[in-house]
Amino acid sequence: MNQWKFCPSLDCWCMEDVVYTDKAAVPQAQRLSVFAPKAYLSETGIIQERGACGRYTAQNAPVIFENNAAGYMEMPNTHPGEDRFFGSPYLAQGMVYVTCGCRGRSSRNEQGEYVGKAPMTIVDFKTAIRFLRHHRGVLPGDWNRLISVGFSAGGAMSALLAVSGDHPDYDPYLRENGAYMEESDAVYAAQIYCPIIDLEHADMAYEWQFGADPQSEESYAGPAEIMTPFKEAVSRKLSSMYVTYVNGLELTDPRTGEVLTLGEDGRSGSFYECVMRRLSDAAKLCGEQPPVDLDEDVLHRRRRMKACTAFDRLDEQSGENELFGNRAQNTAHFSLSVAKAVASVAEQFPEEAASLAEGWKHCSDEGFQTRLRLLNPLAYIRDPQGKKAVHYRIRVGADDADTAFSVSMTLAVMLQNAHLGTVDDALVWHQPHCEADLPGQIQAWIHQICRQ
Ligand code: DHB
Repeated sequence: MNQWKFCPSLDCWCMEDVVYTDKAAVPQAQRLSVFAPKAYLSETGIIQERGACGRYTAQNAPVIFENNAAGYMEMPNTHPGEDRFFGSPYLAQGMVYVTCGCRGRSSRNEQGEYVGKAPMTIVDFKTAIRFLRHHRGVLPGDWNRLISVGFSAGGAMSALLAVSGDHPDYDPYLRENGAYMEESDAVYAAQIYCPIIDLEHADMAYEWQFGADPQSEESYAGPAEIMTPFKEAVSRKLSSMYVTYVNGLELTDPRTGEVLTLGEDGRSGSFYECVMRRLSDAAKLCGEQPPVDLDEDVLHRRRRMKACTAFDRLDEQSGENELFGNRAQNTAHFSLSVAKAVASVAEQFPEEAASLAEGWKHCSDEGFQTRLRLLNPLAYIRDPQGKKAVHYRIRVGADDADTAFSVSMTLAVMLQNAHLGTVDDALVWHQPHCEADLPGQIQAWIHQICRQ
């Protein structure tokens, strides 16, 4: 109660840089800050139950839990004035705001061991939510109206928090992390921006979308690269494997109930039409010409960003390769699909394929498959265990080439097909890989879902 400080620039109370577990291996990252509108607390930190701000009071204000995960890296919680501090508009409209840091792929403990590999980032956020709930008696806001927000890797974490609330799969990790085991980590709703999810299938999706483009751009994902014949063959195989993967998902069009399928050419079928409709809807909202086909869109509007293979890189140099290392080993392959694609071109490219052959052996191990699952929201949507959020909002920039558009669309459709609650999904034209949105829209959505 006596930890609150007044923040004049935001006209709110804040409690900053609180370590959320006694067992923090990386205390500089395993921290959070809480911000609350001025009216919700007295000068001495006592909750003013009738204190009102905007549409809310200290008792019923929704709580925004914004995770600051990025690039699956170790990230701190954010502070007012920093680029990634997004608290101001929420606070101005009477919401309580939390920003939360986490361990990530390069985190090390004092002994130098890697302690932030998959699935530790999500374990940290669940630990943080349980910590906050444990202290709800001194925190304003309605802790049953927790709204998770995140972007990119943080969007993945937001989706995962929303579909895996209190799922026992995470218990051993939570216990080890010092989490309050009697508290819940379930959330009421999730805003999911540009989610980088389904990593074990994302390479197939990427080649399916961007296969026509032989050249990647220079980015944080790697240098610009022109495809070799070997990589072209891998790309073609991954793309055709994606057709099989999509057709096995048993998705149905939420509007018509029609089964969503991809034609063998990858450029026909109702799934493909759904992807194109989502793109067209975004263009039309801006009064712009909708793209006519996906290859044209890739070659003339938003070209390939990442080289083939995009996530599980053959040289093991991606952020995701670092994510799936272990305590002792910094990087690892993780996608059996990539392994299969490489193996399938071995006859044609014996030297290239032979030099890679051993790399994926550990991926079939049960323990390794579990780690993949623990980080993939798609794996939990249809799981009857685990509390699910009842409202989902997905936004992705139409200029975002960090992952294929079909990845977030699959998330949206699978959520709708599971009838978990409301799903509001759209691409946002002219926006890159970012918190792709129009000003005020997320707050308007929160007002709407909190009226119910
Ligand atoms: C992020 C971006 C990526 O391209 C990726 O592969 C993983 C994470 C990010 O911005 O968080």
